[in-house]
Amino acid sequence: MARTRRPLIAGNWKMNGLKADGLALAKDVAAGVKQAGWFDREVLVCPPATLVMAVAEAAKGSGLLVGGEDCHAKASGAHTGDVSAEMLRDAGASHVIVGHSERRTDHGETDATVRAKAEAAWRAGLLPIVCIGETLAEREADRTLTVLETQLKGSVPAGATAAKLVVAYEPVWAIGTGKTPTTPEVAAAHAHIRKVLGGLMGDAAAVRLLYGGSVKGGNAAELLAAGDVDGALIGGASLKADEFLAIAKAA
Ligand code: 13P
Repeated sequence: MARTRRPLIAGNWKMNGLKADGLALAKDVAAGVKQAGWFDREVLVCPPATLVMAVAEAAKGSGLLVGGEDCHAKASGAHTGDVSAEMLRDAGASHVIVGHSERRTDHGETDATVRAKAEAAWRAGLLPIVCIGETLAEREADRTLTVLETQLKGSVPAGATAAKLVVAYEPVWAIGTGKTPTTPEVAAAHAHIRKVLGGLMGDAAAVRLLYGGSVKGGNAAELLAAGDVDGALIGGASLKADEFLAIAKAA
């Protein structure tokens, strides 16, 4: 079967990066992407909001894509400290991560909040990367697939299509811990996600599903080869240009 889903390798810098080191990192990644000249995969970095504009400038002409880490559901207004999808787009972003487990935990974001943010991304012309994932307690209680299903049904807006949606499966217990699910566990989660999305959207065969959680240069090839995995969402390892590019190369 011809592969119709172009892998997406996405870096989530989280709350890391001052101007000097963030720009140096962006320039190194952009140079690597430009040199590689990949047409068969996409590479994205999502820096903190303060750096989106500068990183987008640095990425210009390289093929490296730039996204936000979160957005507010509204386009503008009295929401001190928040950043709208429109602002990210204006700063040069093409993508935005929504519903990361750190947002769900630190800011009490619910599936409904995440869904509204994904809709905001569409409104602004951004591609949302909707994050879902189970906690360790949920996995140990054998509830992983049920939890993923509930999160998908609550977080993915009506009207989603493969061109308008990316889903990232990030087990909460695998984020920043050095632990990962086994390849069959990743494949089982992704197959279930695609099945649930199929029920929601009609046809989910072309939706890209990313795996995230302790992806490194050393384990990327194996995780990316798991069934139904169409890329990765990378935290810690995206802060080192060489390692991030090695993961992109493995895709
Ligand atoms: P780590 O790659 O540091 O485990 O983080 C994963 C993540 O949360 C990406 O969004």
